[in-house]
Amino acid sequence: LFARPWVFIRGVPAMKFLPPEGPPEVAFAGRSNVGKSSLINALVRQKGLARTSNTPGRTQELNYFVPDGFSGQAGDLPPLALVDMPGYGFAKAPKAQVKKWTELVFDYLRGRSTLKRVYVLIDARHGLKANDEDVLKLLDTAAVSYQIVLTKIDKIKTAGIDRLLRETDERIRKRPAAFPHIVATSSEKSIGMDELRQAIMDATQS
Ligand code: GTP
Ligand code: MG
Repeated sequence: LFARPWVFIRGVPAMKFLPPEGPPEVAFAGRSNVGKSSLINALVRQKGLARTSNTPGRTQELNYFVPDGFSGQAGDLPPLALVDMPGYGFAKAPKAQVKKWTELVFDYLRGRSTLKRVYVLIDARHGLKANDEDVLKLLDTAAVSYQIVLTKIDKIKTAGIDRLLRETDERIRKRPAAFPHIVATSSEKSIGMDELRQAIMDATQS
């Protein structure tokens, strides 16, 4: 599936514009600038598919990506959709905008029955923050399966990665909806991508 070309099909600015629940969805959540859009591009090996930027607040809608070649009509639905999301926390945008995106992300995460797994991205340089814990708590409460992904590991030394993996593992171990294995990735150096593709397939094919 990940060897095929993928396409952008829809940007969702508010809950009422969500497509009808259909194919399994996997969503990417995390603080602004953590590397959500870059990770999707690395997974499908298409650099410009999801728009990325050095400025936090790039992604402003729930953006749906599917493998190409499905009409989307009944009987010809794609087997999987990847959903890029606005970041939470700091963004270079007016407060009211940021609040709107955060509400959209939280509403989607707690209210989508076809959402099979959420990837919660953590910048390997910064570790788990208070607003990440808020998201984990919401996912636990809503009983939505999630898995932690460390991003940008090309920016830190191996010893630092190992320490962060241990610390993060300690902090999520008792959380009911957490998938126990944490994946360390670099979109830039394409590290951890096969592992993540496999995890996504496992999470959506049951
Ligand atoms: P928002 O949409 O604003 O919430 O950001 P995002 O989480 O989608 O982050 P995005 O993918 O736009 O990446 C943010 C910045 O981090 C960009 O400048 C990327 O080039 C950079 N970046 C993303 N992944 C990596 C990585 O694996 N390694 C390095 N070194 N930089 C990365
Ligand atoms: Mg983005």
